[in-house]
Amino acid sequence: MAGQHSRPRWHYSPQHMWMNDPNGLIYNAGTWHMFYQSNPSGNVWGNLSWGHATSSDLLHWTEHQVALWHTDTEQIFSGSCVFDADNSSGLGSADWPPLVAIYTAAYLPGSEWEGRQAQALAYSLDGGSHWTTYPGNPVLDRESSDFRDPKVFRHGDGWVMVAVEAEERQVVIYRSTNLTEWTYASTFGPAHAAAGVWECPDLFELPVANGSGTKWVLLVNINPGGVAGGSGCQYFVGDFDGSTFTPDCIVGVSADPALGLDDPLLRAYDWLDFGRDCYAVTSFADVPDGRRIVLGWMNNWDYANDVPLTGGRSIMTIPRELDLLQVGGRHLVRQRPIRELPQDALERHTLLNGDRIRVRGVALEYHNGVLSLDRRGVGRADFHEGFGSRQWAEIPERPSSVTVEILLDTCSIEVFAASGLVVISDLVFF
Ligand code: FRU
Repeated sequence: MAGQHSRPRWHYSPQHMWMNDPNGLIYNAGTWHMFYQSNPSGNVWGNLSWGHATSSDLLHWTEHQVALWHTDTEQIFSGSCVFDADNSSGLGSADWPPLVAIYTAAYLPGSEWEGRQAQALAYSLDGGSHWTTYPGNPVLDRESSDFRDPKVFRHGDGWVMVAVEAEERQVVIYRSTNLTEWTYASTFGPAHAAAGVWECPDLFELPVANGSGTKWVLLVNINPGGVAGGSGCQYFVGDFDGSTFTPDCIVGVSADPALGLDDPLLRAYDWLDFGRDCYAVTSFADVPDGRRIVLGWMNNWDYANDVPLTGGRSIMTIPRELDLLQVGGRHLVRQRPIRELPQDALERHTLLNGDRIRVRGVALEYHNGVLSLDRRGVGRADFHEGFGSRQWAEIPERPSSVTVEILLDTCSIEVFAASGLVVISDLVFF
């Protein structure tokens, strides 16, 4: 049991301890690895370290010992993992290539880098069980207090890192041939939603399912300033030449926190999720069949430390596979629960214009092309004034009906609408 709620059936949640962002998602040697921001000694944010879980099917997870520990002078913030198959880093050998974690060292008083956030490495030679900190850390220091969340991936014969200057609302891109030395390539932003800090970027290529070729997608998580209030994940579709990301279309920038949800531009941007609880979304590296699989932290910084889960706090979203659909001259991300999820785990409904249904008390309504989800008054919602809320999204091209696929769990609902072009994910403490 996790607090008043039984443990989720489909969603990862640690047995005890605090959890925020997923980190270092990777498939390696037949095993899915999920690392995550963890407080090993409490269930509120603090003492940031990397927790670790593994799975053979992305649905059933085994929790392991903490992989990367904080120290008195350094917290281990978010980052990614790569399999350095050619041992380009020299941290393993040709016969024993390393798994390399690239994370943000958030330096505390007592450190020679006190107050800075810089990028650092650790490596494992036993498939992720034991980790050694690289003695040359930090490997990339901009003398910044808000430079964090490196996502590293292979590109051509080198490595690319996307990270954020969080307060500047910028994604910064670096290149490397060996993971230890990095060269600045470019900066993207501010653009679109920018009223809160930018965090946890990701950049990957997706196929166009109803067209030809591929496009690049840049994920930028933002907090606050998300489309449903508080934490959210926006995305940009465009091209990437190995150094610079060029978006197809920029429709403005919203940088005034005072506007909040009244900002009329907010709805002109692309959002991976229109719910309250899908943040720090990031993708798995090295997925064997070429799928792009992401998952997010199913929570919102507005109330994350207060959610009524007394064991592990909190849960991850269901892993989702992504591609692109061309809709009305634009490319939109389509998301579906991973195909490993049994089909009968999903509840399906078609809503006609004006229909309103209740799913375990949660109201779903379709009206004039707008789908809304209302969790107000359902179960335990009184622990925070911002929790009881109604979320909504316009369905592209406002069709006369919409089909939804719903994944319910012990404390969550995820609604995949219009073939996954619109997703609304919310915690609900039924
Ligand atoms: C996002 C975030 C990251 C940071 C981590 C610290 O939720 O703020 O930017 O690396 O959490 O726990």
